[in-house]
Amino acid sequence: MIDELKDIKNEALDEIKKASDEKELNELRTKYLGKKGKVSLMTKQMGTLSVDEKKEFGKALNEIKGEITEVLEEAMKKAKEKALNERLESEKIDVTLPGVSALSGGMHPLMKVVEEVEDLFISMGFDVASGPEMEEDLYNFEKLNLPKNHPARDDQDSFYITAERLLRTQTSAMQARVMEGNKEKTEIRVICPGKTYRRDDDDATHSHQFTQIEGLMVGENISLAHLKGVLEVFVRRLFGEDREIRLRPNYFPFTEPSLEIDVSCFSCGGKGCNICKGTGWIEILGGGMVHPNVLRGCGYDPDKFTGFAFGIGPERVAMLKYGITDIRSFYTNDLRFLKEFNRVESGVYNESK
Ligand code: DAH
Repeated sequence: MIDELKDIKNEALDEIKKASDEKELNELRTKYLGKKGKVSLMTKQMGTLSVDEKKEFGKALNEIKGEITEVLEEAMKKAKEKALNERLESEKIDVTLPGVSALSGGMHPLMKVVEEVEDLFISMGFDVASGPEMEEDLYNFEKLNLPKNHPARDDQDSFYITAERLLRTQTSAMQARVMEGNKEKTEIRVICPGKTYRRDDDDATHSHQFTQIEGLMVGENISLAHLKGVLEVFVRRLFGEDREIRLRPNYFPFTEPSLEIDVSCFSCGGKGCNICKGTGWIEILGGGMVHPNVLRGCGYDPDKFTGFAFGIGPERVAMLKYGITDIRSFYTNDLRFLKEFNRVESGVYNESK
C-alpha cells in the first residue's frame, strides 16, 4: 500500500511538473488532495491495517500529502508569476509611439470676425447688446424714421410674419430698442451683433440670412469726428495699421448726414488692384449722425443729445480679410471650407495680428 502511495506521489509530481497554468494546477489539487482525491481515497483503505501498519501508513500519507502540497504551491507561485509577466508583456505601452491627436473644433470665420469686433469695441468702452430676430415693424422701421409706405422700405425686402412683425432686416432696430430702453436717458455706447434677414435670392454675394453689427454712440457733443475716429481704429485693427478711411455722402433714413465709409485697399495699398476694382478704396460700411427724429422718437432730446451710428457687415469683412469669394460658404458648413479657414487663420493670411 505504501508503494501504491509512492506511485500516486510520483504520478502527481510528474503531472504537476507538466502543468502549464494555474487552472491545470488547481485541477491537479482536486485530483490528488481534494476530498475525493486520490490521496484522500487511500485513507479509506487504512481500516484493514493493524495498529502499527496504520501508524506507518498514516505517517507516509502525511509526508506524501505535504510533499505534493509543497510542490504544488511552488508550481502555483511560478505559474502566477508567469501569467503576470505575460500580461505585463502583452499590455506594454510604448510611450514613444506618436499620440492620437484629439479632434478639435475651430472658430467659425464669421464668429471670429464678430468676436474680434466685439473685443475691439469693448476695449473702447462699448457695451454689447442683443435683441430679437423676430422684430416689430415699429423698431425695425418706424422708429428709425421709416414710416409705412416710405420708399426706402423697398430696399429691404422683408419676411413679414404678421402686418406688424417681421424677421429684422437690420440690426439698426436695436438702436431704437437701446435708446428707448435707457429710461434715464444717459449717454450710450453700444454695439449690437446679430442675424438679419432679407428676401434676397442667394448668390455669391447675397444671402437671405446674414449678419450685421450695429454701432451706436449717443451723448452731448458727439460729432462726426468721433465717428471717424472710432471707425479709423476699427479698420486699422481689422485690416492693418496703415489703413485710411474715406467718407462719402449717402442716404439712410435714420442718419443725417449719412455716409458710406471706404477703407484704403489692404491688398494694393491704394494703387488699384482687382480687390478694390482699381479704385484703391473698398466700401466697407454705412453710418452717419443719428437723425433727430430717431432721437426724439426714442425719448432723447435732439437739442441736447447727438449721436452717431454705423452698420458693419461681418460677412463682407470676413470675405475681404480672408479672400472668401462666396458668401454662401459661411452657411453651408462644408467642413473642408471651415478647416481650410482654420488652417489659414493660424498662419499666413491674418495680416492684422
Ligand atoms: N442698417 C443699414 C443697412 O442694413 C446699415 C446702416 C447704415 C446702419 C447706416 C447704421 C447706419 O446704423 O447709421 O443697410
